[in-house]
Amino acid sequence: AKKISIFDLVQMKAKGEKIAWLTSYDYPTAQFAQKAGMEMLLVGDSLGMCVYGYNGTVPVTMDQCICHSEAVRRGAPNCFVVGDMPFASYQISDEDAVMNAARFLKEADVDAIKLEGGVRITSRIKAITEAGINVIGHIGLTPQSSGQLGGHKAQGRTAETAKLVVEDALAVEEAGAQMLLVEAVPPEVTEYIWKTLDIPVLSIGAGPHCDGQLLIVSDLIGQFQAFTPKFVKKYCNVAEVITNAMQEYVKDVKAVKFPDQDKYCYHMVEGEEDKFK
Ligand code: KIV
Ligand code: NA
Repeated sequence: AKKISIFDLVQMKAKGEKIAWLTSYDYPTAQFAQKAGMEMLLVGDSLGMCVYGYNGTVPVTMDQCICHSEAVRRGAPNCFVVGDMPFASYQISDEDAVMNAARFLKEADVDAIKLEGGVRITSRIKAITEAGINVIGHIGLTPQSSGQLGGHKAQGRTAETAKLVVEDALAVEEAGAQMLLVEAVPPEVTEYIWKTLDIPVLSIGAGPHCDGQLLIVSDLIGQFQAFTPKFVKKYCNVAEVITNAMQEYVKDVKAVKFPDQDKYCYHMVEGEEDKFK
């Protein structure tokens, strides 16, 4: 298989082929995703909640994002891997934003970076794309500013606020972004954006009328326990599978059923020990 580039994704849009995108934070999950046929992976700052147990994404650091991006890149050498810029890595200045975006490429070999915001962030998008880095915009529900939004809430549900979301979409494309992610807005708003923009538009909780879907892997596999957003489809329940397996192990240890003498033990040998067996 060959590595997926931005041109492949643009071509998929042109042909009407939908793009499958999933978050991933570690090496084994990235391997599974590539094997499953995922075109894109996002090393989301959602790792703060899904892997580190924070309440939100605000505490996540650049170093954490880089470490997890490296692991994902190693697990999925052919996927289009996107590094997610954490809070305060691009809010301060264009210079800061370019330097941190560049770290993702230099240290983790990602294919693009993603940052939150539309109109208010156009100068950053322009600076990063001018540095030669693929940028994916992210509008609608933007979790890093959930304080201002009053929580993790759907956006653009009235004519007035929908207009603001559309203005953000136009601003992201105008600033030079290669793709746009729309989160938690009504499907008709996404559809309007999709029909208006030239760049690929992807959805997370923003309906089917666009070029592809993103989900958080911890939601998809039933691993994240704190809450489940309305837009999530759980495809399996690994929390149950893993907990059951661990319970069995605990039981076996207590009952001295594990390890079985014959099956799971090294037996004494006569004469020389063979170090290579
Ligand atoms: O961090 C993340 O996983 C994200 C998605 C929720 C869009 O940014
Ligand atoms: Na994010």
